[in-house]
Parts: sequence; C-alpha cells; structure tokens
Amino acid sequence: MVPSTLMAIVAIAKATVPGYYQCGGIGWTGATDCVTGTVCMSQNPYFYQCLPLTTTSSSTSTSNSTGEPCTTSFVTTSFTHSKTFTSTAYVPPTSSSTSTASLTSSTATSTVPATLPTGIGLRGLNLLAQANGRYFGTACDGIWNNDDQAYLALTGNYSEFGMMTPTNAMKFDTTEPSQGTFNYSNANYIASWSHDRSQVVRGHNFVWYNQVPYWLMSGTWTNATLVSILVNHIQDEASHFRGKLYAWDVINEPFNDDGTWRADLWYQIIGPAFVPIALTTARAADPDARLYINDYNIETIGPKSNAHLALAQSMLNQSIPLDGIGCQGHLIVGVSPEADAITANFARFAALGLEWAITELDIRMTLPETTALLAQQASDYSNAVGGCVASAACVGISTWDTSDDYSWIPSAFKTQGDALLFDSNKQPKLAYYSVAAALTAMTVQGQFASFYEV
Ligand code: XIL
Repeated sequence: MVPSTLMAIVAIAKATVPGYYQCGGIGWTGATDCVTGTVCMSQNPYFYQCLPLTTTSSSTSTSNSTGEPCTTSFVTTSFTHSKTFTSTAYVPPTSSSTSTASLTSSTATSTVPATLPTGIGLRGLNLLAQANGRYFGTACDGIWNNDDQAYLALTGNYSEFGMMTPTNAMKFDTTEPSQGTFNYSNANYIASWSHDRSQVVRGHNFVWYNQVPYWLMSGTWTNATLVSILVNHIQDEASHFRGKLYAWDVINEPFNDDGTWRADLWYQIIGPAFVPIALTTARAADPDARLYINDYNIETIGPKSNAHLALAQSMLNQSIPLDGIGCQGHLIVGVSPEADAITANFARFAALGLEWAITELDIRMTLPETTALLAQQASDYSNAVGGCVASAACVGISTWDTSDDYSWIPSAFKTQGDALLFDSNKQPKLAYYSVAAALTAMTVQGQFASFYEV
C-alpha cells in the first residue's frame, strides 16, 4: 500500500494549475503545470500565474505604467451593441418604445441658462436622453427606511431617471457580512422598487479596496484562498441578480491617480490577475450583464485613464469579457473638464469596441453656495453631459443620488456639498436645466437599448 504522504506528494507533482492561479515565483512550492490553453507567466519575481494565450494576431508587446509587461493589440472592431435582454421580470415602460423608435437628431445648440427658468417645472431628463438612445439615471440608498415622499417620488420618477444604482446596498461589506453568509435584503429592496418604476439597475460593485467586510480585511489569505473568496462572492451575488441588471461594476477604482496599481488587498495577494478572474467569473454567473471597470479621475487623457486603456486592451487581447468603462465623474465646480476633452479620451475606449457611461456624476462646491458657484456648476454639468452625448459609445449618465440632502459629499469632503441637480427641497437647480439643455441639443445617436427590448 502506498503511504498517504507519498500519494499526496504524487498528487501535488501531477496537479494542473487552473487558469489565473499561481504557478511559480520565489518561495512557491506548489504545482507549476498550467491547465491547457494557459501558460505560466511572471507577473513579478514572487508571483507567476497561469494566463490564457493571447489570441489576437496583430499585437505588440509594451508595458503599462507600472512597468509590468502587457500586450497591446489593435482591435478594429467597431462599436456595436448586439446584446438583447430576455428577462421577463419587468414591465416595459410605455414611454421607451415610442421614444427609442423615433431617433431623430436634434440640431439645437446647448445653452446654459443664466437664471432659473420662470415657472419651474421638470423637463424629463431620462425621456430627453432616451430620444437619442441614452439613459439618465440616479443612485440611492436606505429607501426601505425613508418616508421622505418628495425624495422618493423624484428618485422613482422614470421620466427623470431611467437607471438606478444602489450606492451601498450591493457592496461586499453589505452583501457578505460574514464569510459565506450572504444578505441581499437591501439590494433586493432597491432592485424591486426600481423595477416597479420601470427603472433599470446597475450593479455596484464586486471588487473594491473600500467597504470590504472586517472578516475579509483582517484575515490572513494566500493567493488561493483569496481567489476562492473572490470567485465565491461574485458567483453568489451575480447569480442572485442574474438577468435583472443592466451592468455590473465588476472592478472599482483599481489604479492610483498616477496610473500605478492600487496596492490594496486584492492586488497585494492576487496581483493584477484579480481583474480577469473577477470578469470571467461575473460573465459566467450572469451572461446578460454588461461588465464594467469603473473609476474616478479618468474623465480626460492622463496617467490614470491611460492605465485603464492599457488594462482594457490587455483584457480584450486575452478574450477576457469586458464591455464598458464607467467614468464616475466626481467633479469639482470650476475645475471640471471640457466636454471635448472627455469625448476625446473615451474615443480611445470606443475604438476598442467598449461602451462607456458616466456612472456617479456629482459636481461639488465649497459651501456656502453662491449664485456664481451655481452658475459655474451648471456650466460644468453641461460639459460633463455634453462629453457623453457627443460620443456614440456613451450609453448614459447617472448622478450619485438625487438631491443635495442625500449626497455623500458633505460626509466625505468636509465643507463641500450641493453637488447634485436638485436642492434639499427637491427643487431643480440651475444645473438641472443646463443638463436638460445639453440632452436636448445632442446630435450624436447613442446605442442604449431599452432593457426591455428583445
Ligand atoms: C460612497 C457612498 O455614496 C457612501 O455612502 C459611502 O459611505 C462611501 O461610498 N466611488 C464609488 C462609490 O465607487 O461606491 C462611492 O460611494 C463614492 C466614490
């Protein structure tokens, strides 16, 4: 009889390493033979992993901003949207079928109103966006415990907001508060509340350095155990919402502003492979959701957006599923980017066949607000929205909540606030009307298809 220890040694020696798992590096004593279709590649001296062979023929080696090797290919696929949604869980909004059918381009010019229009009324931002193949959306939290009827009516108003993102309810700390125990009650509430109002939902998010539960932050993990936790989390949550979401922010904020990798839990233990692992796992668990990488300070061309471009190219070269880039758009009054600079930046991603969206737009000011700051904010909003709607690949824009009294800004940036389109009385601000004007003036047809169209 073969001793069990010898059997174990034989088993290790013959083991095949699955894709994206560690296969070598200084101190590595585990298996080194990669599963068929992948090769053991060095990510750094301490970490080798099994990566798929690049399938793109026209490619060239380069390096990303961290100096790590990556492969850049020249993908010429044009921007297309072939995806359809087959979910029957939702009631089609009556307005979308007519508005998306008549796709006339407006030739009007966007003008920022100097003062609030008399006879304040709403313009229907989402309906305006839909007229040219885009959505306008918002985000929310805590609505299961909120009797602010003015807020709820506005936030759930489909004419204004056709897309909803839970700001916290789908994050790791909320959904897996202890290892292997999942809680979707808050997320379920928002998803069904929004669906009842014909709003589509974006999932946010799977992999982030922040709002990670204590058990995960404080644990001691190996590459294998952390990959297992990551895969299990995504499988569970993506499966739970399978077919019900427009998109998932699979990866959130992976880079520092200088374009280097953020040295968070995921990167330190798994290395850059956490990105393809998360994307491939999400695709398998919910094949209908668009898969996004989402970040802030990537509105214009610079080190951070360059790093995202290199990462996106690398993913596509390796046939890793990636559909879109989320430009968060947490901006500051008076120092926000011009529309043209935003459009030019994302033309590079669109050229790869990716869609993009402004996912968390708010434009904050140092309080107290003044007439001049509100006017500048209106101009800045016009530029952000204009930067999206000038790009055929931009599917839509979401603000990070609805009214100033619900914004995360005052708690995150002391002395700043008033960053949203509605004031604390839920009245539209000047910026609301500049956004309506920018949406009315758009001439480039977008490709956002109603979630409900088959
Ligand atoms: C924010 C939430 O709005 C806050 O309630 C929470 O305390 C911190 O996170 N970028 C993101 C969002 O991707 O998840 C963040 O949301 C804002 C910055």
